[in-house]
Amino acid sequence: MPPHHVAWWRPLFLIALMPIGVFGNLEGDALFAFRQSLIDSSNVLQSWDSTLVNPCTWFHVTCNAENSVVRVDLGNAGLSGTLVPQLGLLSNLQYLELYSNDLSGVIPVELGNLTALVSLDLYQNNLNGTIPDSLGQLSNLQFLRLNDNSFTGNIPVSLTTITGLQELDLSYNDLFGEVPTNGSFSLFTSISFVGNKGLCGAVVGKQCPGQPPFSPPPPHTATPPLPPHTATPPLPPPSLPPDTTPSPY
Ligand SMILES: *[C@@H]1O[C@H](CO)[C@@H](O)[C@H](O)[C@H]1NC(C)=O
Ligand SMILES: *[C@@H]1O[C@H](CO)[C@@H](O)[C@H](O)[C@H]1NC(C)=O
Ligand SMILES: *[C@@H]1O[C@H](CO)[C@@H](O)[C@H](O)[C@H]1NC(C)=O
Repeated sequence: MPPHHVAWWRPLFLIALMPIGVFGNLEGDALFAFRQSLIDSSNVLQSWDSTLVNPCTWFHVTCNAENSVVRVDLGNAGLSGTLVPQLGLLSNLQYLELYSNDLSGVIPVELGNLTALVSLDLYQNNLNGTIPDSLGQLSNLQFLRLNDNSFTGNIPVSLTTITGLQELDLSYNDLFGEVPTNGSFSLFTSISFVGNKGLCGAVVGKQCPGQPPFSPPPPHTATPPLPPHTATPPLPPPSLPPDTTPSPY
């Protein structure tokens, strides 16, 4: 018997295993790595059991019909600890809600791989370091709220290319440098940036060092005088009708 007949069924067997293998272990392992970097003093992550085939039954985790994680909802959950690069493996993640905890450390550049992300809410934590340029790759992002942390450095101009960005809150950090005004940033006002002492530019009403002052408003030019009123030329005297009065004679 030729050797290729021996294992003809193996490809079928592998295909049968795929629904478990594709997302389950990878995404469960990624979230479990996150759990291990956290201090969970309120035990909200007790159901995060790495021996299950996928994380879809874990509390605070939502999956789609293909058992791939689409939401992580851990806002206001009493968590401290750090984010992990493995979160960047959740390729279908749409909502990463981690606001109002006590998370510290930096945003891993790998979060820029979460291209399905619609909402990234990390506000009200103790995160620091710079906002990674890679977040500009989050082309489906609509809500980016990083306010009330300790982020430093410039606002990455890459964020201006996220065309669907509707809400941006970078307020109350330690950001500095010029606030971009182009692309998606044309929508945002000073409310998105208040509480960062080092930011400058037209949006925050503060001149950037070494840059010319904001272009002054155009000088108030008086309305040009109207052209002199040209009098309507007098009408020619009405031509008298020819005298047709019959002569009395
Ligand atoms: C994830 O992001 C990192 C850094 O941005 C990059 O080097 C890596 O190739 C990405 N991985 C995937 C699977 O896209
Ligand atoms: C961020 O804060 C941690 C303490 O939480 C500190 O060890 C680290 O050096 C800080 N990193 C940056 C880039 O400021
Ligand atoms: C905004 O301007 C910066 C350069 O100042 C550029 O790198 C960026 O691509 C621009 N964004 C858009 C959306 O054109």
